[in-house]
Amino acid sequence: MSADLAVGSALDIPTDRRKVLEVDRLRVQYETPRGSVKAVDDVSFYLKEQENLGLVGESGCGKTTTAMAILQMVQSPGRIVGGQVRINGKELVGISEGELRKYRWSELSLIPQGAMNSLNPVIRIKEQMADALLAHRPMNRKELKAWILKRFNDVGLPERVYNMYPHELSGGMKQRVCIAMSILLNPSVIIADEPTSALDVVVQRVVAQTIMEVKERLGVSMIMIGHDMGLQAQMVDRVAVMYAGHLVEIGPVKNMFKSPLHPYTQLLIEAIPSIAEKKPLKVSEGLTHDLRHTPKGCIFQFRCPYVHDTCKEITPSLEYVAPDHFVACHRVSS
Ligand SMILES: Nc1ncnc2c1ncn2[C@@H]1O[C@H](COP(=O)(O)OP(=O)(O)OP(=O)(O)O)[C@@H](O)[C@H]1O
Ligand SMILES: [Mg+2]
Repeated sequence: MSADLAVGSALDIPTDRRKVLEVDRLRVQYETPRGSVKAVDDVSFYLKEQENLGLVGESGCGKTTTAMAILQMVQSPGRIVGGQVRINGKELVGISEGELRKYRWSELSLIPQGAMNSLNPVIRIKEQMADALLAHRPMNRKELKAWILKRFNDVGLPERVYNMYPHELSGGMKQRVCIAMSILLNPSVIIADEPTSALDVVVQRVVAQTIMEVKERLGVSMIMIGHDMGLQAQMVDRVAVMYAGHLVEIGPVKNMFKSPLHPYTQLLIEAIPSIAEKKPLKVSEGLTHDLRHTPKGCIFQFRCPYVHDTCKEITPSLEYVAPDHFVACHRVSS
């Protein structure tokens, strides 16, 4: 391990495959009457070509805000207060809305949290998809239909859905429509924010499978946001763990499950229920942070079983521990 690597150096480490997305010391705050909420605090990571990265962490830790910040879609009262986001080497933070439109959907697309509920129930699927497509690529009706039906085929939707309304579709089919929308313009990166969590378990598996097939077929890179480490383990190449606005560990799925390094990652993995070896459910104690008043030092200090004096004084930086594996913990870096 190289102990002398500074914060942000995660991005400078050479990788086996090209980095399509680089998030560099990203910071997002929501300004509220009771203070600034530090929803994303100094987050750095990269996504490699054709990689599937899981982003996990408890509710409110900043997963959706990170996704929205990558897409430059943070809504007021939130704003990006620091850092950079590069897609295929191009900087996105601070560029004009007109410039951004060129990248959204065509280089970077989103399956938003609760996506299927965001479909307008009284507008036919074909019209909703046509709107998104025509904004980028003018084409006639025949070309448009062929284009959309090709995407339907990619996600396993029957052609008749083209003329249907969202309210006529099951949850799984609506989610497939959202996946089809996300790949309309062949992006190089798709961010899927909890794409299966609103579905029942069986449909969840089928939709997850569809996403994986689409990812493989189109050769895209993905960030899959979710709560469920168990489900993620079967789908992703690497896992990024967030806690209270901070990225505490990111690494290959095998390393993370076999020997998680950050105490919070360890806790998340121990919390996965197992039928094979019945173990008492480990419940983590402690309060979720008030992100308006973050402590000096490590963000996890109040829940960490190994906390010591340095942790209360110095914020641990994200350090390289193995290929594609980084952790922010004094225990590991000292
Ligand atoms: N519009 C807003 N105004 C103020 N604070 C907000 C706003 N939106 C989000 N936050 C706060 O920012 C933090 C991160 O929220 P975010 O939605 O990114 O979390 P998340 O990890 O996606 O959670 P979940 O798993 O529940 O979807 C939370 O503390 C949340 O309360
Ligand atoms: Mg969210």
